[in-house]
Amino acid sequence: MIVQKERFTTKSADYEIISQWGKNVNDPYRPVYHPIAPHGWMNDPNGLIYYDGWYHVFYQWNPYDSKWGNIHWGHMRTKDFNNWIHMSCVLSPDQEYDRDGCFSGSAVIDNNNKLHLVYTCNRFEKGKHQYNGGVLTSQAQCLASVDNDGLMIKSELNPIIKTPPTNGDKTDFRDPKVFREHDYWCMLVGSRNNNNGEILKYTSKNLVDWNYEGMIAKSEGKLSYMWECPDLLKIENQEVLMFSPMNVEQYNGLSVSGYIKKENNDYNANKFLLIDYGPNFYAPQSFNNSTKTIILGWISMPTMNYLNHNWCGALSLPRELNDSNDGIKSKPYTGMCLEKKLIYKEHNKELKCNESIMLNGDTVELTINTVVKSTGRLFIKLKAANDLSCYSELIVDYNNKKIKLDLSNSDCQFDEKPSNGFEFDFPKSINNNNLDIQIFVDKTIVEIFAFDGLYVNTFSVFSKPVNKTIFILADNSTIFNSVHLFEIEPTIHSCSLNK
Ligand code: FRU
Repeated sequence: MIVQKERFTTKSADYEIISQWGKNVNDPYRPVYHPIAPHGWMNDPNGLIYYDGWYHVFYQWNPYDSKWGNIHWGHMRTKDFNNWIHMSCVLSPDQEYDRDGCFSGSAVIDNNNKLHLVYTCNRFEKGKHQYNGGVLTSQAQCLASVDNDGLMIKSELNPIIKTPPTNGDKTDFRDPKVFREHDYWCMLVGSRNNNNGEILKYTSKNLVDWNYEGMIAKSEGKLSYMWECPDLLKIENQEVLMFSPMNVEQYNGLSVSGYIKKENNDYNANKFLLIDYGPNFYAPQSFNNSTKTIILGWISMPTMNYLNHNWCGALSLPRELNDSNDGIKSKPYTGMCLEKKLIYKEHNKELKCNESIMLNGDTVELTINTVVKSTGRLFIKLKAANDLSCYSELIVDYNNKKIKLDLSNSDCQFDEKPSNGFEFDFPKSINNNNLDIQIFVDKTIVEIFAFDGLYVNTFSVFSKPVNKTIFILADNSTIFNSVHLFEIEPTIHSCSLNK
């Protein structure tokens, strides 16, 4: 059992879990099989670690509201990504130095099998916060460690890294990712220097005293003013720096997540590639101590529509990453044991122009295998009204060898027009091959995987629950080798709170 030392705050955040438990299970907008907080606002996954036989998932959490603010660390754990146990809150903003939020960070296990959390403490101007014009005044890095009674104790030496190195912006210095390298600890921190995103590297022998080793990658005026949530992945001997640049001009001003492969001992910002082409996947992190490279990301949701609910935000399904010459491939983690049953199956079907396959479901997995053609387009309309008056659409454009998302006909009740994410060019290696597409729909969330994991697109859409028809059609005769639709059962949630 891992809990905070400060029982009164633990109680109040945990009390919220108990008092709100089950209130949202019938909410028709709430995802049923994605990792999600029991209630309240959720953003980045934090402290992902495989420890004592469990995948531990900590996360940015506001237990008191469905909007961002008052950020705590929630905690849930699972063995199979189907049975989730919600645990006591582990970090509350209860110290002077972290009074305005315990921001993102990571978890490590030391040689004595003891868990440590490293996070960013956040402060606004005293007496103010983001909602009444308060400006950020400082961010620094902190440590909390489990004691022999299982209590999560914040270090008396906090913050353990008080300021960024020279020239660094002291209000944009966050999201420490700590991992083991040889016989020392290594920490990467996201930062901003002269309006350039940078990733800084520190090392330590004891998790408390840190030496600044230098900057390992920077945007050089090309890729945003601030890089958040760094992570260093080692995939089949290839080192990969994954991070989330904010409001990137060349990506329509959106905050995106991507990676740079290490080449010639260098991370070159010109080689940045997206890890997800959708508009709502952000701040991914990998599990420490896991033999495979498994990541989770935050699925953001257009906040305004969720404020009347007692929750907002979710995490992605776990994705396993592999390296290839065409880029990093992300596929649903094979150890994820969702319960599903086949509800539709078709083999070797030719679909003529203007014909369609019509299916139904909003908690489903759809898999399609079709032959890549030289002409025409394939349309997969999701969350559609029966009369096709609205839908969210994936378009595979064989003529132009592009795949893209089109949300312009969605009935999402957004305040602003939703972003479609980013077009993707067919990888060269798939010419004249079969095209596999795997789509997960979970109420307001859609995750799409294609081209063997080279194309992933995550989006959230607040369309009316009644609109859950799926249409598959093509403007030129198309051969479908197979189409399968599975109904996915809700995952099972229980809670185990410290008494
Ligand atoms: C990314 C992020 C992090 C920060 C956290 C605050 O979504 O902005 O940089 O630590 O969210 O909740």
